[in-house]
Amino acid sequence: MKAVVYTRYGPPDVLEIKDVAKPVPGNNEVLVRIHATTVCAADWRLRKADPFIVRLMNGLWSPRIQILGMELAGKVESVGKAVTRFREGDQVFGATGFKFGAHAEYACLPQDGLLEIKPANMTFEEAAAVPFGAVTALHFLRKAKIQAGQKVLVYGASGSVGVFAVQLAKHFGAHVTGVCSTANLDLVKSLGADEVIDYTREDFSTAGPVYDIVFDTVGKSGFARSLKSLKRGGFYVVIAPSGGLASVVGDILRGIWVSMTGAAKVIGGMARAAPGDLAFLKGLIESGKLRTVIDRRYSLDEIAEAHRHAEAGHKKGHVVILLAQTSQ
Ligand SMILES: NC(=O)c1ccc[n+]([C@@H]2O[C@H](COP(=O)([O-])OP(=O)(O)OC[C@H]3O[C@@H](n4cnc5c(N)ncnc54)[C@H](OP(=O)(O)O)[C@@H]3O)[C@@H](O)[C@H]2O)c1
Repeated sequence: MKAVVYTRYGPPDVLEIKDVAKPVPGNNEVLVRIHATTVCAADWRLRKADPFIVRLMNGLWSPRIQILGMELAGKVESVGKAVTRFREGDQVFGATGFKFGAHAEYACLPQDGLLEIKPANMTFEEAAAVPFGAVTALHFLRKAKIQAGQKVLVYGASGSVGVFAVQLAKHFGAHVTGVCSTANLDLVKSLGADEVIDYTREDFSTAGPVYDIVFDTVGKSGFARSLKSLKRGGFYVVIAPSGGLASVVGDILRGIWVSMTGAAKVIGGMARAAPGDLAFLKGLIESGKLRTVIDRRYSLDEIAEAHRHAEAGHKKGHVVILLAQTSQ
């Protein structure tokens, strides 16, 4: 099968299309013929080993995992002997998670992993763009104990995590303010945000301590400004590094101190999917409460261009890779 392979860390040009062995499903696994996948932040971060800590996970000198791609939608081609939840021909969507491997024509996923029948009202490309951003947004909103009636600020509301954070916070009954640039104001409003703030013209923190949750999806809200905007004991969720190693360590230490004083609770770390998350998201999609935003579409051959666009940090929602076999 065709796959995008990288054997050294570096710029998008390290990505090569190669013929590799088609995976064989284990007893508990499903082989999916991939129709659509995405390039998400984890893909370009692993490709360029940014931040450096990535090398501790994926090999100090060269990448152990050589096929990137975390999320997908496609058709079940075959199933392992013990599989009961899926059968050949099912249209599914899901995530390979930290095993990656979705930038390829086929991937195997465990039947009890992040894998569900594709929402009936989504195309393959729309469904492929759900798991990474939506599961992340769901995980952190739950960790911040979101409740109806709360005021939530989503900083970086137009990225792949942000577009789902806005929609999910609305679903949970919050009053949502989305922060984005001028070009994305209408998009963020269309996702249900009650208010939008253009970060190129306005400083969100001038409103004072009005928010129960500040959810920074891009690491750029600023520690001091975010704390200034939170009610006492509110949650500051920050899921992306704010800079190099020194600023990350500084943020962690400040986070511990602020949490100890009770001024705010600072939450970070890695998102983890809980059982049932994807089924829950599918339900919201099918009831019209959640949608994907697709910025650009590329073919597998254009993967380097897709990485360049995603890495630039200004995509609107998702960058989708369509495989040749795509038929909706
Ligand atoms: N901790 C975890 O478990 C976890 C999970 C998923 C992702 N992440 C991290 O979260 C980060 C975001 O991921 P993503 O996929 O959502 O990124 P993304 O899709 O690349 O985000 C792009 C968006 O960020 C906005 N943006 C850029 N600079 C901004 C600024 N200064 N202020 C406000 N918005 C700004 C852009 O809007 P404009 O064009 O308008 O600037 C663009 O729409 C990544 O660093 C990723 O590694 C962490």
